[in-house]
Amino acid sequence: MWENDLTRVLNINYPIIQAPMAGGPTTSELVAAVSNAGGLGMIGAGYLRPDQLRNQICEIRRLTDKPFGVNLFVPNRYTADEGKLQTANTLLQPIREELQVEEEPVHPTFEQDIKTFQDQLNIIMEEKIPICSFTFGIPSPQIIMKLKELSIVLIGTATTVKEAVLNENAGMDAVVVQGVEAGGHRGTFYGKDSESLIGLMSLIPQVADVIRLPLIAAGGIMDGRGIMAAKFLGAIGVQMGTAFLLCEESGANNLHKEAIMKATEDQVVLTRAFSGKMARGLHNSFIEKMKNYEEVLPDYPLQNELTKAIRKTSATKGTTGHMSLWSGQSPRLAKKLTVRDLMNKIIFETERLHPKL
Ligand SMILES: Cc1cc2nc3c(=O)[nH]c(=O)nc-3n(C[C@H](O)[C@H](O)[C@H](O)COP(=O)(O)O)c2cc1C
Repeated sequence: MWENDLTRVLNINYPIIQAPMAGGPTTSELVAAVSNAGGLGMIGAGYLRPDQLRNQICEIRRLTDKPFGVNLFVPNRYTADEGKLQTANTLLQPIREELQVEEEPVHPTFEQDIKTFQDQLNIIMEEKIPICSFTFGIPSPQIIMKLKELSIVLIGTATTVKEAVLNENAGMDAVVVQGVEAGGHRGTFYGKDSESLIGLMSLIPQVADVIRLPLIAAGGIMDGRGIMAAKFLGAIGVQMGTAFLLCEESGANNLHKEAIMKATEDQVVLTRAFSGKMARGLHNSFIEKMKNYEEVLPDYPLQNELTKAIRKTSATKGTTGHMSLWSGQSPRLAKKLTVRDLMNKIIFETERLHPKL
């Protein structure tokens, strides 16, 4: 009934994609439940080791025979600036003492990231995953060619018109248009972060006027109103993160879910403090303590490694003060539901607004 170019290419009933959310929320139960309900479940595999990815794929296949996808982080080059690492460690030290966390050595290298990315891609190809999406960049032409030879549908992420054009030129089959409202990390990979903070209402139609690919809107969409607005602006699908993060099947920490349920739109901020890459989440004391030093912190993924134990210990101690509480800008619209109930609700709301959909 909602059939369009995107549902046809993804082989799903509703053009509703559960955002890949690396770091725990996208459990096998969540991904399978979304696909079983006629949407597209996505594994956020950015932080998964290849063996973990393979296990999760097998687990999901036991829970659904419907299509689902995998999302990967395209590795970015970065420099390990000793001065920045030292500054970050000095700033983090009082927090480590407060939480009784040992300082962690930083080990990641770009070469290791490339190797992990390639291993993850090999699993996707071996397991014949039908859909693969990317954030933080565009894979090399060789990788794109290999994936296309296996008829894997490829979805890129764009935060500006220029990035959308680069995705189209690279041969992607669809593009997630990520507005500034979006929760979690920004996918920006071309140009400055500060120049890529475009609201979805502005971004979708400007991308739609320039590229021909199916557009998937992401950022602040929580209900049928958001879906219809995205559709009128030129998107034919949506990717929803925060809404699915709240679902019973999501693996997000309960403290995180509760914090979003209580939050208001003015408490949702952009920060580099947790990972070295700009991301949107709820304001808390960690962000407050680091706010004057955002520009002098190490690049992603170095800062991410430096804060890992702090974030984990904060959660273990049952306090949200030092957790990364990723959220989009519409927390007041959040509902704690099962996937089935959320899907039924948003489908009902959308059809009521546009009975002919
Ligand atoms: C907790 C969380 C984790 C996320 N992780 C990823 C990820 O691994 N890969 C990705 O492409 N996008 C990720 N995103 C961004 C989503 O794809 C999407 O752009 C965003 O959720 C849309 O905004 P919304 O949360 O208001 O729906 C994440 C978002 C959240 C909230």
